[in-house]
Amino acid sequence: MHYIKNKYNIKTSQVTSKKNFINRRKVISGLMTSLLTLNNINVVLANSKNKMFSNIIERPLTTFKTLSKYNNFFEFGTSKEIWKQAQKLNINNWEIDVYGSNSLKNKIDIDEIYKRFVLEERIYKFRCVEAWSMVVPWEGFQLSKLIKHLEPKSDTRYVEFETFLRPDEANNQKQNWYPWPYKEIITIEEAMHPLSFLATGIYGQNLPKQNGAPIRLVLPWKYGFKSIKSISKITFSNKKSKSFWESIAPKEYGFWANVNPKISHPRWSQEYEKDIETGEKHPTKIFNGYSEFVTALYPNLEDRSIFY
Ligand code: MTE
Repeated sequence: MHYIKNKYNIKTSQVTSKKNFINRRKVISGLMTSLLTLNNINVVLANSKNKMFSNIIERPLTTFKTLSKYNNFFEFGTSKEIWKQAQKLNINNWEIDVYGSNSLKNKIDIDEIYKRFVLEERIYKFRCVEAWSMVVPWEGFQLSKLIKHLEPKSDTRYVEFETFLRPDEANNQKQNWYPWPYKEIITIEEAMHPLSFLATGIYGQNLPKQNGAPIRLVLPWKYGFKSIKSISKITFSNKKSKSFWESIAPKEYGFWANVNPKISHPRWSQEYEKDIETGEKHPTKIFNGYSEFVTALYPNLEDRSIFY
């Protein structure tokens, strides 16, 4: 990621017209209803709170095909076409190890997660630090629910997430100059925020492996690299350690990574983004459009470091 230059020429910014947007929303709800009937899965259609979150979106959904064929998953390679390689990942009997909890339980497996948490749909905008974006109908549940269940120690300030370490399945993990496993860290306040989401599916189906099966984080107001895939370990900690990308290039991929069009990446502008479905360029919004929900997390917005 850190060596990809911004290859997008920005000519115009095009915003979906209100009429198209409304038509599209009809299509979306029709689509979701048919998926529900088809799969009979435990998805609660967007409740009023979720609608509020999706009201900021004025773009069509990115199609399943695009979402599952254009990915960043460095464990399987550095190109966007890793979906075939990712099929090697064995997601049977998936467990998440838990550290820093008050509970005696130090693991939770995916079956228990499915039993314990009711899945809901969230349509979120997703903005990659590489200046592309998409609109995704995720399924899953609020991260705060899992955190409450896991009973973090009272001095917890940070929540760390790690991806598996399996070089036999994920070929690029044989490249030992990367600080594997992939790791991301957020504050406990960010983790408890209602927007912070654990996704187990897209479009009414289980997450494709290339999208981070069986469970991944989604933090829509931050650059996409914070949304760690295929989580296999969660640590509650009172000290901040270094994430995967922060260890590689701290000036380019810092801890906060909150989306801000005014703060350029050292090698490209963040003012515009390219929708990977339509190819249209759109002006980037602060906090990826979610500022009304998340600014309270950051009392000192003058502090530019909260955007790195
Ligand atoms: N998680 C892991 N474990 N490995 C990765 O390489 N890439 C990140 C994030 N989570 C990544 C990851 C980046 S840079 C982005 S933009 C998103 O996943 C891409 O998610 P997608 O492939 O579902 O679009």
